[in-house]
Amino acid sequence: MANEVCFRTRHLPEPWSLEAYQSVGGYTYLRKILTEKVAPEVIIEELKASGLRGRGGAGFPTGLKWSFVPRNAPGDKYVVCNSDEGEPGTCKDRDIMTYNPHQLVEGLAIACYAMHASAAYNYIRGEFWLPFERVEKAIAEAQQLGLIGKNALGSGVDINIYNHLGAGAYICGEETALLNSLEGKKGQPRFKPPFPANHGLYGRPTNVNNTETYASVPAILQNGAKWFADLGVPNNGGTKIFCVTGDVEKPGNFELGLGKPFKDLLALAGGVRGGRKIKAVIPGGSSAKILTADEMMACTMDYDCIGKAGSMLGSGAVVVLDETRSMVEVLSRLLDFYAEESCGQCTPCREGVGWVSRTARKILKGQGTIKDIDNLVDIANKVEGHTICVFGESFAWPIQSYVKKFRKEFEALVKQ
Ligand SMILES: Cc1cc2nc3c(=O)[nH]c(=O)nc-3n(C[C@H](O)[C@H](O)[C@H](O)COP(=O)(O)O)c2cc1C
Repeated sequence: MANEVCFRTRHLPEPWSLEAYQSVGGYTYLRKILTEKVAPEVIIEELKASGLRGRGGAGFPTGLKWSFVPRNAPGDKYVVCNSDEGEPGTCKDRDIMTYNPHQLVEGLAIACYAMHASAAYNYIRGEFWLPFERVEKAIAEAQQLGLIGKNALGSGVDINIYNHLGAGAYICGEETALLNSLEGKKGQPRFKPPFPANHGLYGRPTNVNNTETYASVPAILQNGAKWFADLGVPNNGGTKIFCVTGDVEKPGNFELGLGKPFKDLLALAGGVRGGRKIKAVIPGGSSAKILTADEMMACTMDYDCIGKAGSMLGSGAVVVLDETRSMVEVLSRLLDFYAEESCGQCTPCREGVGWVSRTARKILKGQGTIKDIDNLVDIANKVEGHTICVFGESFAWPIQSYVKKFRKEFEALVKQ
């Protein structure tokens, strides 16, 4: 059995086709649950045993999340897939949808069945045309086979799956902003609690997971929880797609078992560009705290190890920065992104992010003072924990960690 989960069709010709997906056993589990009427508890317990954790950033256990949805409550319930993928460095969900769309469709169908959902909505980032088309085609093909749609495979269960294109706003990846956007409202986050499991889309119970999370489900159920868990390490079951970019010879998406040493992942990406040394690594998307070369080299690629090192595995976007990089420039570029993308709802974020991005640029241009460096950290500390969603932390954490670990670079530009 191959060690790939979401990319398991990638060695086949036209890996996105129905034929390719069925040749790796795709849709066998959906057929089984529909014909044998497998109890939802069985599916949810299997997911819990597999150790699957959410692949969208926070790493919350998926089986547990599914169990929170009151599936026997009267009225509509929804399954929502977060395919917004706006985090700088993250580029895996678009590849799952482009190269293995049927696996996502099967994952969503199983989720609808397990949570008694009336519909699944796949919220796709506005720029993702090809992924959108591929998933549209996969939905149509699954419908033609009777696997989804009204009375799927004569089971008496209706499974409805729809794609929805967003408009390319990063904040709409935050799950409650996504729900507002899906409802046709301004894409701004909601207060939590109440959580989507009880009060989600149109105020109804809703489960939100990332694309990679849903796409992992069919392979887990087909091959068993133990198979999946054994691909990773305890508490970090399965594989993860790592998006390796920055100063490496062969940037790309690599799916490998959780818990492998960082240096193995680096080797897959061809090593550091030009044989140079690493200065630092962003281990889990642009909002993750930066790790120095030594910290990163001591890490294995899993939630627990990166967490203990003081950062997070997040979405699995690994950005390698070599010894020639200016950390002030990297931070300044990141802050420009966050300043552009703040939704403006919370004052500390709306005002703070513009302020820090201007201050970082001033330091980069050699026009800053020591007070500006301290201000960056001071503002970050005041934003952290004071906004409705964690967008505030998303730019506060980089500031805190870059200045703490590379303060000398900031001071050198000030003195210059
Ligand atoms: C500003 C912001 C942007 C986010 N963008 C995404 C995204 O593009 N895709 C995603 O799956 N999760 C994103 N998240 C996390 C989601 O809110 C949510 O935790 C996730 O979709 C849950 O799925 P999971 O349990 O499968 O990880 C974002 C969070 C924040 C605060």
